[in-house]
Amino acid sequence: MNKKKMNRRRFIGNTAAASVAGVLAGSFPVLAQTKNSGTLAALGGAPVRDKRPWPAWPYTDEELVQSMTETAKSGWWSRIDNRNSSKVARFEREFAPFHDIKYVVATGSGTQAISTAVHALNIECGDEVITSPYTDMGTISGVITSRALPVLADLDPDSFQLDAKDVEKKINNNTRALLPVHMMGAPADIRAFVQMARQHKLLLIEDACQAHLAKIDGKRIGTFGDVGCLSFQSSKVMASGEGGACLTDNEALADTLYTVMNHGSDKRGTHPRIGPKYRMNEFAASLLLSQMRTHLQRHETRNRNGKYLTEKLKGYSGVAPQKLYPGTEECSYYLYAMAFRPEEWKGASRAQFIKAVQAEGIPIGPYIQSGLHKYDWVNFICGLEVYKKMYGEKRLKEYKEQTKHLPACDAVADRMLLIPGSGPLTADQSSMDNIINALAKVWEHRDQLKSIKV
Ligand SMILES: Cc1ncc(COP(=O)(O)O)c(C=O)c1O
Repeated sequence: MNKKKMNRRRFIGNTAAASVAGVLAGSFPVLAQTKNSGTLAALGGAPVRDKRPWPAWPYTDEELVQSMTETAKSGWWSRIDNRNSSKVARFEREFAPFHDIKYVVATGSGTQAISTAVHALNIECGDEVITSPYTDMGTISGVITSRALPVLADLDPDSFQLDAKDVEKKINNNTRALLPVHMMGAPADIRAFVQMARQHKLLLIEDACQAHLAKIDGKRIGTFGDVGCLSFQSSKVMASGEGGACLTDNEALADTLYTVMNHGSDKRGTHPRIGPKYRMNEFAASLLLSQMRTHLQRHETRNRNGKYLTEKLKGYSGVAPQKLYPGTEECSYYLYAMAFRPEEWKGASRAQFIKAVQAEGIPIGPYIQSGLHKYDWVNFICGLEVYKKMYGEKRLKEYKEQTKHLPACDAVADRMLLIPGSGPLTADQSSMDNIINALAKVWEHRDQLKSIKV
């Protein structure tokens, strides 16, 4: 974390150029004299940001509406077979080059994509899969429904990602796969996981549900492992209400993923294995096809804005932006993530800080309130006969103990601050300056935060 004390002059020196109304002269007192900076908006002052709305999400335009109408009128609403004219099949073909991958298999959600990967890689009862506790339940749902054991390792407190060192400690003879999650749309420590998977002969599934188009070491996220999984749920940077995809460069595996996704029926219409029915529907594909035209443009804007915020926040000691691993070139910026640093706020809480910044017109909030290890599913699966038989009482007891202690995850959950990326981070630079100015103003008035009721 950034330990440097905020230095007013340095912070404002970092703060945007002439377009930032409050800091035109490049010194903090000017900000203090503007009409917006006198009193915190949470305490009755005028907010930093005017009534201008933030870009809405999910994205919609005329082409998108037309694409949906076309599908509605076509009468072809479902991907019944693998015909090339299906919008889902077209989406798979056209989306692959975005991620520099050979094969895409569309599914009904990100959860389904991960579950399809787990089935297709024959991960089953008795196997263990190591993953992150700080994620959506969809990461582990497919592992559990295959009756494999999701083993949770702790986080790197600065990147909010799965800690490779703790993962390595949790590998045992039953470990079959690693399932790193690229949180907030930033690449996880994927170099370490690729190497670890090779060394221990493990499968590697990437949960890239939040990390569309992110890139590290010259490669897109989702293309490092055996299978990469994406989500197109409404909040994601490409959205179809619900939707997902498996990515792979392996042709045989792509066929298996298709067959699993398609309740065990392969592309020739025979039934060589079993699987759930996880098809994407034609409406979801229509939404995605029409968004693809402008997807890269929004990705670039989010990256420009995300990097801009991080640059301006250098020297601001009140929050620590998410640490990125060396080699990170692009993030999805699904979320712009920061850790609240309570020691800097004179006893004010994260909730008071959030309320103050929100009142200035900035869409900021906390995130997942606690890691997955805090929930009852742990006791539930340990109580199932099939788990008792396959893993044995000793392992399940140890598992429960291991799963209780994930202190870095607990700290991350308590400190997390997020600005949603899909909409807000596609705004113009003056909006990013609003964010910086709001943070500057709240910092300037930090003595008063404790009086804000939450
Ligand atoms: C990291 C992560 N993994 C998995 C999922 C599950 O994706 P879906 O909601 O599309 O099922 C999500 C969705 O929020 C997610 O953020």
